[in-house]
Amino acid sequence: MTSGEGDRLRVVVGITGGIAAYKAVALVRLFVLGGHDVSVIATEAALRFVGKPTLEAISRNPVGTDLYEGVSEVRHVALGQRADVLVVAPATANTLAKLAHGLADDLLGTTVLASAAPLVVAPAMHTEMWEHPATVANLRVLRERGVRIAGPGTGALTGSDVGAGRMAEPDEIYAAALAAVRPQDLAGRRLLVTAGGTREPLDPVRFLGNRSSGRQGVAIAEAARDRGASVILVAAHLEIPAPHGVEVHSAGSARELADAVARHARDADAVIMAAAVADYRPERVADAKLKKDALGDEYDVRLVKNPDILRELTSGALAPSRRDGQVVIGFAAETEQDPERLLAIAREKAARKGVDYLVLNRVGWSEGFGTEGNAVTVLDSAGSIVGEAAGDKLSVAHRILDVLV
Ligand code: CTP
Repeated sequence: MTSGEGDRLRVVVGITGGIAAYKAVALVRLFVLGGHDVSVIATEAALRFVGKPTLEAISRNPVGTDLYEGVSEVRHVALGQRADVLVVAPATANTLAKLAHGLADDLLGTTVLASAAPLVVAPAMHTEMWEHPATVANLRVLRERGVRIAGPGTGALTGSDVGAGRMAEPDEIYAAALAAVRPQDLAGRRLLVTAGGTREPLDPVRFLGNRSSGRQGVAIAEAARDRGASVILVAAHLEIPAPHGVEVHSAGSARELADAVARHARDADAVIMAAAVADYRPERVADAKLKKDALGDEYDVRLVKNPDILRELTSGALAPSRRDGQVVIGFAAETEQDPERLLAIAREKAARKGVDYLVLNRVGWSEGFGTEGNAVTVLDSAGSIVGEAAGDKLSVAHRILDVLV
């Protein structure tokens, strides 16, 4: 893979002139939310269906249309040469014909021919056109050349008709594009990932919580999905949206998270506990909002211990039902500044928690929690360092999964 920056991909999305072009906007958005760099090339016909400003705003990049624009940058080949993956969605019958024959009379055509990157096309057309021998032959040529075809589905078409030819949904096309560039080394595996920070209620409006945003756990879920795993994400108060294509279960408190893990860990090939789980919770939760006049000048909260979910999994109540060969990965978020002592704490924690791997990251007022980047060290159960990674959270997620694989 010739990747742009770390595990962020340079994606070219070609949009051609079909009514499904409006759904391509959602596809572009998925790539952007996934942290990838997207260049949109829209044909003249596509711009009759969606506006350039929409595509530029959503992709956060200029939209190319004209072969004779940006000639000094040799734009007609540059986008294709630097792309990690090309996606044409929707691909009309006309576009499929042009791609099959290598026609290069517009910016999309030259870009595709100038690129050695995987190409994914998402056909969209009426059933008659889809089933026409010309289209069938063009598809065969494209398939033989290694082009991946996403969809089309069967369903309601633009008119009142129903049949084959409906463009695949954006998340399906997105998954096909990622699958074309990522190793599918987690295909057929089930992963349970926890992310976010639990909140332990004091009363109906207040809680004790922590500063975890869920970004690292979400990135792990996303990376695992892109590598072919089926992923269950147990989410505790995420500050960012959960990724598409993963099964999400919300958990508010440590005990709710423990219940969700108990339900889903059984079938998982790996459990990755990235969530920041509160070790204690208020002993009493008030039914109504606590009033300061009633509480007085000092207010003591008595805390009681929460279940240690990792330990329950590795040596407690959940251990007997664990799947054979299941790998358990824990996290340690530590504020220790001295590198030697930091490692010693992590080694002790790996042993105490009985995990197969422990991902150590240093946190502080401005490090780790809530930030875009992260730096981690991965230890095995014996305390040996088996991986190190620094960078954006998606790249770090991939390095953690490399260890798992
Ligand atoms: N964890 C858990 N259940 C808890 C607390 C933490 O399963 N009640 C998991 C976290 O998801 C993380 C790992 O344990 O994967 C380490 O969490 P951390 O808070 O760093 O460790 P603690 O058990 O709290 O240990 P210490 O108090 O010594 O830091």
